[in-house]
Amino acid sequence: MINELEEKLKLIDNLNDFNQLKVTYLGKKGLINAKMANMKNLSPEEKKALGQEVNILKKECEELFNAKEKEIHNALVAKQIASEKIDVTMPGYNFNLGTIHPLNQTIIDLENLFIGLGYEVAEGPEIETDEYCFEKLNLPKGHPARDMQDTFYINPEILLRSQTSPVQVRTMLAKKGKPIQIICPGKTYRRDADDATHSHQFMQCEGLVLGKNITLADLKGALLVMAKKMLGDDRKIRLRPSYFPFTEPSVEVDVSCHKCGGKGCSMCKNTGWIEVLGAGMVNHHVLEMCGYDPNEIQGFAFGIGIERITMLKYGIEDIRNFYTNDLRFLKQFKEAK
Ligand code: DAH
Repeated sequence: MINELEEKLKLIDNLNDFNQLKVTYLGKKGLINAKMANMKNLSPEEKKALGQEVNILKKECEELFNAKEKEIHNALVAKQIASEKIDVTMPGYNFNLGTIHPLNQTIIDLENLFIGLGYEVAEGPEIETDEYCFEKLNLPKGHPARDMQDTFYINPEILLRSQTSPVQVRTMLAKKGKPIQIICPGKTYRRDADDATHSHQFMQCEGLVLGKNITLADLKGALLVMAKKMLGDDRKIRLRPSYFPFTEPSVEVDVSCHKCGGKGCSMCKNTGWIEVLGAGMVNHHVLEMCGYDPNEIQGFAFGIGIERITMLKYGIEDIRNFYTNDLRFLKQFKEAK
């Protein structure tokens, strides 16, 4: 019987067959128990002898089954390990890395440039008070120049800032009469209908420098460096008189066209110059309202349109491209710098 079982076990290679065979031998109605079927007809000595014989047989069978069970289990584990083996030499997945958004790139470029000139980067909230966005910038309630900057009001005193200039106010109030040299990049809002050159949400980078003996010449110098860095080393700038309530005198700053070099082309509407920003010497009223003595300290401010300068730099015709997240547009800036 044992030899026969050994032969049968050799042929088995899976748990199902194994369990069946085990039941055939060791089950309640199995071959081993069958050997004791006519026990009751035997004499006590015979019973004892048969009992011992069957017990030995049962033990041998069990040992064989246990050994085989281990063997099957080990084979299964080995098979699973083999199937889960990782080939570390296989090529990895390709991750699609995004790119820095062109507007963020412009902000990074401006920050690098101005930090290099000794400026600090200041920030302020996008939800502003009427006082900081307008009143302390010399635009009292009802002032006609507010028309150009109509925005979204949360209530008559709280609004979405229409310019980054309130960060000037916040910084001046915080510095309490001390010199200042900051830029403030950030989001701004206006009640504009969206078209190719207008968006209800856009970005600006404000600049403010206050100190003793700061003049318009310093403003021109800073902006010339900025124009060269952003639009090319051989750029020139020119200042034209303009009007902003928070500066006096105020100027509009043009940069010589980076596409035609100043000869005249479609980019500069044949003038050779492109208007890029507004600036001026900080109005005495603003200085006074923000705790500065205009006879002691004065300086300049400027406001750059981030979208505008980015559109000029890369020849982008529609401002809406910046905000629609079209990969065909964004991918073009992979190598741009
Ligand atoms: N805040 C102005 C605007 O949105 C831009 C500007 C002009 C800012 C002149 C200035 C400045 O600080 O001096 O139109």
